Amino acid sequence: MGFRDEHNFSGGPGALPASVLAEVKQAIEEVPGTGLSLLGLSHRSDWFTALLASAEERLRQLLGLDGAWAVLFLQGGATQQFSMVPMSFLRRTGAAADYIEAGYWSAKSLPHATRCGSVRVAFSGRAEGFRALPDDDRQRYASDAAYLHYVSNETVEGLQFHHLPGHATVRRFCDMSSDFLSRPIDLDHFDLIYAHAQKNLGPAGATVVLLRRDLLAQMPADLPDFLDYRQHLAAGSRLNTPPVFALFVVERVLHWLQREIGGLSAMQEINAAKAAMLYAVIDEFPQFYRPHARRVDRSQMNVVLHLPRPEDDVAFLQACTQEGFVGLAGHRSLGGVRASLYNAMGLAATRDLADFMRHYAGQHA
Ligand SMILES: Cc1ncc(COP(=O)(O)O)c(C=O)c1O
Repeated sequence: MGFRDEHNFSGGPGALPASVLAEVKQAIEEVPGTGLSLLGLSHRSDWFTALLASAEERLRQLLGLDGAWAVLFLQGGATQQFSMVPMSFLRRTGAAADYIEAGYWSAKSLPHATRCGSVRVAFSGRAEGFRALPDDDRQRYASDAAYLHYVSNETVEGLQFHHLPGHATVRRFCDMSSDFLSRPIDLDHFDLIYAHAQKNLGPAGATVVLLRRDLLAQMPADLPDFLDYRQHLAAGSRLNTPPVFALFVVERVLHWLQREIGGLSAMQEINAAKAAMLYAVIDEFPQFYRPHARRVDRSQMNVVLHLPRPEDDVAFLQACTQEGFVGLAGHRSLGGVRASLYNAMGLAATRDLADFMRHYAGQHA
C-alpha cells in the first residue's frame, strides 16, 4: 500500500493540514494576486511584510499575547535557542540557572548552558531512562535561580508536563517545540517560550520565540548580532533573508487553527481524543504494548512504546508500513515505536491506527 500524508505519524517534520498543503501547492505556482511563485517572492515585498504581520497577529490572537510580549520569527531551530537563551540570560549574571533534564532534548540543552555559566540540574530522569517527569514539588527548585529551563513535551520519550514546574518568582523559559499550539498556554507563568516549526506549525526553517520585552534590558551588550534577540526585534525578524516559504506555511497553519479548528481549546480537545484512542489500546494490551512513560506524564503528542522484544518492534513496524502507516519508528536513541499526534493528525487517521493496533495485538499478543 502507498503512503498518504494523512497517515504520517512522524516525530517531525510530519503531517500538515490537507487544506494548507493545497494552498502551498497553488502558491508555488502563483501566490494569488502577485503573479509570482512563492519561491521567488522577495522578503522585502509588500506581500511578505503583510504576511509576517498577519502571522504575528494570528499568533497573538490564538495565544492572547499582549504588548508586553515580543514575537520573533527566527532561524536555527530549537537548537539555536539552546544557546541563545543562556548567552542572553545566564552569562555574567552571577546566578545559576535551574535546568530540568527529563529527556533526550532537555539533556541536549544542558551543555549549551554550562558553557555560559553556572547550571543546577534541578531534576534528572536519566538514571531511570527518562520515564517520568519531576513530581509537582517546589522544594527541588532554587528560589533565586536566573531562570528555570525545561522542555514542556519530551518528544523522544513521550513525556508531557501537565503541571507547572518551579517557583512563581523564578522566570520560566520553555522549549515548547513539540507541543506548541496543541493546547492553550497560561502566559502569566512564562517569560520566554520557543518552538521550532516542524511539528505543529509548518516545515523546518522557522522558529518562533516569544519573550517578555522587559527581559531585553537585562541582556549583555556584546552579543553577535545574529544571536541577539534585540537585533532581530529591531529588524522586524528580517535581520537577514528569512525563510519565506516556511513562514508562508506557518501563517496558513495559524489561519487553519483559527478558522478550521476554532482555536487552541478546540485543538486541545481533539488532541486529547486522539491520544486517548491510542492509550486505550495500550492499556488493553499492557503486556504487549509497553508504554515508555509513567502514566501521569503521558504525552498527548508522542505515544512511545516498546513491544516485548526488539524483533517484535521490527515486525510490528513492518506490518504498519504494509498498512500504509508511516513514521512510526521510535527515535534512534530509544528504538521501539512512536506515534506522533501533532495538530494536523486527524481523528479518523488516529482511529485507523488504533484499530490496526487492536487487531494486530489480537493476532500476536
Ligand atoms: C523538544 C525539542 N527540542 C529541540 C529539538 C531540536 O530541534 P531543531 O532540530 O529544530 O534544532 C527537537 C527536535 O525534534 C525537539 O523535539
